[in-house]
Amino acid sequence: MNLQLLAAPRWLSLPALLCLALTLQFCSSSKKAATAEASVTPTVFYAKDIKPIMLAKCAPCHFPETGKKMPLDTYEAVRDNIQDILRRVQLPQDHMGFMPFKNKKEPLTAAEIQLLKDWVAGQMPG
Ligand code: HEC
Repeated sequence: MNLQLLAAPRWLSLPALLCLALTLQFCSSSKKAATAEASVTPTVFYAKDIKPIMLAKCAPCHFPETGKKMPLDTYEAVRDNIQDILRRVQLPQDHMGFMPFKNKKEPLTAAEIQLLKDWVAGQMPG
């Protein structure tokens, strides 16, 4: 094997590397100031997208008429518990905390989980 191929070219000396590093740093810090905060336009809404999922997968247990568990039947309840909801529906299906409880309902599909995530990203509009 020709070791010379692996060695750095001569112009890539330590001072040259330092210069390069400083230049790159300067570039990236001046770019940062120009980058505007990208705002996410919400496309996922509780009434239209989220409530139907909760009804299909989390009722009746979390819907108070018959459910004994923490109600998840309102916008406020789902919004306030969204982190725990997201965590539980993504647990391994044989995990104790997995929801829907003991697989009594079909697990959420990847698309449904994505809807929940997009809803959070859009600041959880009603
Ligand atoms: C068959 C009934 C049943 C279904 C369907 C069900 N759960 Fe549960 N859920 C339970 C039980 C029982 C508990 C308490 C045990 C525990 O905390 O793991 C619970 C607990 C929870 C908790 C913790 C707060 C609490 O009430 O103790 C959350 C959050 C939750 N479930 C979310 C969901 C979501 C989201 C769905 C739908 C995707 C769902 N559950 C579907 C029965 C159910």
